[in-house]
Order: sequence, then structure tokens, then C-alpha cells
Amino acid sequence: MPDTQPAPALRSETIALLSRRVSVRRFRPDPVPEAMVEAILKAAFRAPSSSNIQSYSVVVVRDRDVLARLAPVTGHQKHVAEAPVFLAFCADLTRIAFALEKHGHTVADNNMETGLVSSIDAALVGMCASLAAGSLGLGGVMIGAVRNDASAVAKILGLPERVYCVFGLCLGWPDDAPVQKPRMDYAGVVHYERYGAQRAEGDMASRLAAYDADLARHYRATGRPTTDDSWTHDMDKKFHPWLRDKLRQQLEERGFDFR
Ligand SMILES: Cc1cc2nc3c(=O)[nH]c(=O)nc-3n(C[C@H](O)[C@H](O)[C@H](O)COP(=O)(O)O)c2cc1C
Repeated sequence: MPDTQPAPALRSETIALLSRRVSVRRFRPDPVPEAMVEAILKAAFRAPSSSNIQSYSVVVVRDRDVLARLAPVTGHQKHVAEAPVFLAFCADLTRIAFALEKHGHTVADNNMETGLVSSIDAALVGMCASLAAGSLGLGGVMIGAVRNDASAVAKILGLPERVYCVFGLCLGWPDDAPVQKPRMDYAGVVHYERYGAQRAEGDMASRLAAYDADLARHYRATGRPTTDDSWTHDMDKKFHPWLRDKLRQQLEERGFDFR
């Protein structure tokens, strides 16, 4: 084994926090104090930012009516309607637009890089916020289903042009201790020096068959219906036909060209 691989027994508070992380979808009704949200977000804004563009904004939503309007867009996810607080992590080009206009340029006809960089920035802040929240004992789940209808979500959250919600985060005090989902085999996803330079044991078919079986066992043990080929089956069901076909056009209408 290459000596760059961390010893599995190596521990730190952050590694321990990540090692027990799980998505939580049931919350006690207790509120999440604003001071906590502020501490979480201030810490998360220390995330690195590509070229320091900080092209994100966060909408903190507690209003039950707003959440009741968001939930149907996300496919009626109960935890969206019931979350004590919902953080909408948005890619935001308005400040970079200001900077460019100040210098006689424009973000009109921006490109794939602009869209990616702003979305990556928002995602890094969202993940850091999720971890910071976990460190305070809060639980939550990210909500990518806001992209089911980027236009409707923008309307509900009052997002101006050049801002779109990349994903949300339902946050609250956990009322559930879900069993962690197994992850894929480490050797199948980590490469040293060059992709595939070391042969992971078995080919992709056998490794994914093992993961299918693992995940099926996990779902059955936790009372969720599944098939024997759990993961490959779910992926096929989820992505064929392709998901969110209208997204590109909707983002273009919001001022993200992705071209
Ligand atoms: C960007 C992103 C979007 C997600 N969207 C949803 C969602 O809309 N609804 C949901 O219940 N879970 C959502 N999840 C949670 C994933 O389903 C979950 O992370 C995955 O199944 C692994 O489970 P775990 O987080 O408990 O380890 C999302 C996760 C990510 C990273």
C-alpha cells in the first residue's frame, strides 16, 4: 500500500465528525437560534473561493409559508416543509457583474467556467456549513431538488437575475439517528499518481456488484424497499431519462450561460 494513504486509525475531531456524518430528515420542533446560524455561516464563509470571487449568497428561510411553497417544487419532501430552518445556497454573479461593469465590461454572455466556479463556490460553503452545524449537534440534509424548477425557486426566494439556488440545506435538532449508508470500496475510488495505476481488487463489475449487495443489505435492514442490484438499479432509474432537462434553459434565463 502506498505510504501516502492515511492510517485508518488516525483520528482528529474533524475526521471523527465526518466519520459519523449522515443525512438527517426528521427534526425536533425546537428552533435553531439565529446566533447558531450566524456562527455556522461565518465559519463556512472561510471556505476557499476560486480567485476569491466569493460568488455565493445564502437565503436563510424560517417562514413556514415560504417553506410550504418550496416543498412542492422539491417533490413534496416532508423535511423541507418541516425543517426549523432552511439555508438556500445560491450561486451569485451580481457582485462580479458590478465589478466588471465598474471597469467597462459585462457578465452578459458569460461561459461554462463562470457557471461552474460560482456553483463550486456555493457548494464548498454549503458543505462547510453542514459540517459546522454537525459540530454543534445539529443535523440536516442537502436538497438538490430545488433544481427541479430553478425558476419557481427563484420566484419563491425572490432571487434576482444572475442568482440561482444550487441546493438547500434543511437544518434542525435531529429527531432520528439514521444508520449510515455504506460507501463504495476505498480502493475502487482512490488512485495513486495515475488513474488506475494500481489495480483495485476485481473489475468494476465485481466491485459494483459487491456495493449493490452491501447497499441492498443496508436498505433491507433499515426497512427500505430495494432490489438485489440496489445502487446500479437506483442510478439507472434516476438518470435514465436524464434528470432536469429544463435546467440549462432555466439557468440561462437567470443569467448563467454555461456555454
Ligand atoms: C447536492 C446534494 C443534493 C441532495 N439532494 C437531496 C434531496 O433533494 N433530498 C434528499 O432527501 N436528500 C438529498 N441529498 C442527500 C443524499 O441523498 C445523501 O447524501 C446520500 O444518499 C448519502 O446518504 P448520507 O448523506 O446519509 O450518507 C442530497 C445530497 C447532496 C450532496
